[in-house]
Amino acid sequence: MELRQIYAPVQQDLNKVQDTLKSISHIDFAWLSEQLSYVVKEIGKGIRPALTLLSGKSYKYNLTYLLPMAVSVELMHTATLVHDDAIDKALTRRGQATINSIWGDEIAILMGDYLFAKAGESVSDTQTPRVIKLFSQTLATISSGEIGQFRGAFNLDQNRENYFHRIYSKTASLFSLSTQSGAILSKAPEELVTVMKEYGDNLGIAFQIVDDILDITSTKEAMGKPVGSDLTQGTLTLPAMLLMERYPDDNPVERLFETGDKSNVAQAIDMVLNSTIIDECYKTASEYCKRACKNLNLLPDTVSRQSLYALADYVVKQGI
Ligand code: IPE
Ligand code: IPE
Ligand code: MG
Ligand code: MG
Repeated sequence: MELRQIYAPVQQDLNKVQDTLKSISHIDFAWLSEQLSYVVKEIGKGIRPALTLLSGKSYKYNLTYLLPMAVSVELMHTATLVHDDAIDKALTRRGQATINSIWGDEIAILMGDYLFAKAGESVSDTQTPRVIKLFSQTLATISSGEIGQFRGAFNLDQNRENYFHRIYSKTASLFSLSTQSGAILSKAPEELVTVMKEYGDNLGIAFQIVDDILDITSTKEAMGKPVGSDLTQGTLTLPAMLLMERYPDDNPVERLFETGDKSNVAQAIDMVLNSTIIDECYKTASEYCKRACKNLNLLPDTVSRQSLYALADYVVKQGI
């Protein structure tokens, strides 16, 4: 199923989210206004605000609170991307040149900060301390994940536990905020908030595993962002870990990390593509999606619940 169909139960309200995002560039400071309209010009897949709205649909849907929350998670996501691209020295995002590549790292840092501030302003419009606190905790978790990744670059001494902890922090925590906040703001009973938290936690992990697969199997044109970037940055992802496990005595990942010789990147990608490693990674992602959906049957039987199932299916079929 395509995202457009999956989003159908909340599409009208997702359009409102997009309109609100675009309106953040309506400010007096002409130069900043131009940059902000650039950053919100190319919208992404919109998965996080869709998750908030779909989770909210499972109970007492109230747009007064859900709309600013959905705007807030997408703004936080956009801010992390602006910072992430500066850290990764990426030149393309959503098919257009990155902020860092046009205006430099300093402006990317400040723009990211501005977007985080706007995300904070929007979440405060929910007037709900519980989600405002969760928002701040999530931002701290994402930052710690990105710091851990940066500090761990080119470090071979990492195991799967480190990997899963890192991808939970940098990616799944925001999925979890998106789903939990939708449930909280629609006044769902506590057990359903937990169901939505578990859905977001596990879907987010699956989503990052698939993003890490696509960094190896996809193209810049299809992704709208660089590929092969993880190994170049010294980020150890699941496919690279499996390659090291299969060839413990001599493999290009180890050589890359030890010598910094970038010719090993293409060789590592080649070896992964000529093995069953990608299938194995998709299998792991599917297991997380299955876990994500395990208790969705406790939600009321609505079209939004169908969308949550379909979204889990969509995540593990990307690139297949
Ligand atoms: C990119 O997220 C960053 C990751 C967590 C992998 P998305 O793939 O959701 O990015 P957009 O919003 O669609 O561009
Ligand atoms: C997600 O990881 C980073 C954030 C949480 C911002 P990646 O570094 O893999 O994301 P992409 O591939 O650049 O979108
Ligand atoms: Mg990146
Ligand atoms: Mg990536």
